[in-house]
Amino acid sequence: MKFFLDSAMTDEIKYALEMWDIDGVTTNPRHVQVSGKPFMTVITEIAEIFAGTDKPISVEVNPHLDDWTEMVKEGKKLAAMSPNFVIKLPATEPGFKAVFELAAADIKSNLTLVFSAAQALQAMRMGAAYVSPFIGWKESNGEEVTHFVDEVTAIRNTFGFETEIIVAAARNARQIVNSAVSGADIVTAGMPVFRDSFAHPYTDVGLGKFQAFWDDTPYE
Ligand code: E4P
Repeated sequence: MKFFLDSAMTDEIKYALEMWDIDGVTTNPRHVQVSGKPFMTVITEIAEIFAGTDKPISVEVNPHLDDWTEMVKEGKKLAAMSPNFVIKLPATEPGFKAVFELAAADIKSNLTLVFSAAQALQAMRMGAAYVSPFIGWKESNGEEVTHFVDEVTAIRNTFGFETEIIVAAARNARQIVNSAVSGADIVTAGMPVFRDSFAHPYTDVGLGKFQAFWDDTPYE
């Protein structure tokens, strides 16, 4: 299973790459705004971090676009900037069509804002390289998410689609594990969730106990 960092903060991304060998990055307009840098500056900096690797970086088209031809035009412009860029498009009617057209031009896309298995199925049919079911937002809305991811992976596996499933907006380590058990290919999460998935309070408690025993024991 692969892990993408959901961030546009270059210091976070560099840290996560060095410490955890993350497999890629997903960005969205909120992440870019939080970075405090212009869109083009921040995506260029992220591309430089991953230059020479095959790790994907999802970059989102202008979310105001509602014409698929404009989405394709912007997607092609972004894709020309870096071989690592994957074009993130919304799960709207023009977004699906843009995915199809970009796939025909051999440009990878990531269908984002996916909240139903039917949307995920259509993303796969239209040739999306990645599909991003948003579990955190869905769960906040009081909806069940484990069965949702199960359905998306079952559809992909049954019909042999090549689309990789990115479980997005994971909020805790349990959701990461559930996604792995469901057979999702990738989880994308922010830095705090990522960090928590390596930790457990008992590890710290146990380490403290062992340190005390160590200190009470002669070395030789
Ligand atoms: C995924 O690709 C999205 O960028 C992301 O998961 C959105 O959710 P969040 O920013 O609320 O975590």
